[in-house]
Amino acid sequence: MKMGKPKTSDTVVIAIDGPAASGKSTVARALAGRLGYRFLNSGDLYRAMTWACLQCKIDCHDIGAVASAAGQTQIEVGCDGSEYFPLIDSEDPRAHLRKEQVNANVSPVSAVPAVRYVVSAAIRAHATGRQTVIEGRDIGSAVFAETPYKFYIDAPAHVRQRRRRNQGQTEEIARRDLIDSTRETDPLTVAPGATVIDSSALDVTGVVAAMLAKLKEQGLSSAVYACSNG
Ligand code: CDP
Repeated sequence: MKMGKPKTSDTVVIAIDGPAASGKSTVARALAGRLGYRFLNSGDLYRAMTWACLQCKIDCHDIGAVASAAGQTQIEVGCDGSEYFPLIDSEDPRAHLRKEQVNANVSPVSAVPAVRYVVSAAIRAHATGRQTVIEGRDIGSAVFAETPYKFYIDAPAHVRQRRRRNQGQTEEIARRDLIDSTRETDPLTVAPGATVIDSSALDVTGVVAAMLAKLKEQGLSSAVYACSNG
């Protein structure tokens, strides 16, 4: 029997964390599509803040200068059809977010507590009162630690590096992973209670199916609906 689509104005966050090139974005977007939820890539907000620092010619390793820039920069989530993306002082930075210079500086900028504070606040403001799949590094462990719906997507380092090369990028992702997992504030970690999925063993459909099964088991009504509607 097909179920009626659940209606809710509650805050529901599905957190998907993991290291670089673990496949989080593709999976998070597909899962959001199946559930009828919003999708937010929190890394884009950190990339946008990094781009803002670079625009102001700030040394991204100067913690004081980066913190001061974070305090003077307005960051929020904008909407373009069904896409949600960062706005920096009302400007759309999407064309710049994957540039080499941003890749090279995003982890040191993200390690600055003042940056994490403003970006986490923007993510919370966006997701409160909505149903959202959010991918990142600290969503299940810090930003929405209270959500019961948490996943950690991983794959061996060589598999993730090969994926990045296949995307035409030469960046050594191990450097970013090291900074992200050893920083003092909200490091990349497996949140307590998170379901760990190795994405090297499954394709996107397989990972999404595993997540939907877990969410259904947890009693999330939109997952029960998505599973019963194929
Ligand atoms: O897509 P990719 O795996 O390359 O990374 P991303 O999601 O675009 O994130 C870029 C960087 O932002 C990460 O390497 C982290 O330094 C930072 N980040 C973070 O600190 N916390 C998050 N919740 C998301 C990203």
